[in-house]
Amino acid sequence: MRTLIVYAGTAGATERCAHLLAEQMGDSKTADLNKETPDIDNYDIVVVGSNIHMGKFHKKVKDFMNTCQEELKNKKHGFFISNAFPEQAETFLMQNITQELLSTSICAASFGGELDVTKLKGMDKFIAKMVSNTTKGDESKVPKILEDSIKVFADTLKQA
Ligand SMILES: Cc1cc2nc3c(=O)[nH]c(=O)nc-3n(C[C@H](O)[C@H](O)[C@H](O)COP(=O)(O)O)c2cc1C
Repeated sequence: MRTLIVYAGTAGATERCAHLLAEQMGDSKTADLNKETPDIDNYDIVVVGSNIHMGKFHKKVKDFMNTCQEELKNKKHGFFISNAFPEQAETFLMQNITQELLSTSICAASFGGELDVTKLKGMDKFIAKMVSNTTKGDESKVPKILEDSIKVFADTLKQA
């Protein structure tokens, strides 16, 4: 079963999550929506991944889901987000994905994230600094990629 992992992010964490998932999945291709618009026809499973900024999916991911809604619905599909607060994943998933696509997905989860202010500019950098300040002094709250969650997600997809 061939898997396509389409994603878009800003500072690299979503991309790292997509590549870690691809390693777990085996026969798969990753496609960065900031650089290409893949044809999903040739794949059995399509996974869509986005970062979260102020509760919202990346615009390229939103556009992709709108354009491919029908094709996605008729394929095995899943969603992941890369974000700083994985405990809020359900809210972000429900607010950004249509009920039809979310309810027919095999899995939908947060893979955690990374917050590197040096890779951001302008307002994004300002907000990232504010978020970083709230986690200062508490190592358990610093955003990190959750490799175990990626493995569970991949295992679920492979069994579907
Ligand atoms: C401007 C900005 C806004 C963010 N807003 C949220 C948010 O609302 N909820 C959340 O859980 N994480 C939020 N984050 C954290 C990012 O989702 C997280 O760092 C993610 O891993 C970034 O992925 P990327 O490197 O692919 O862009 C925000 C980060 C930035 C820079």
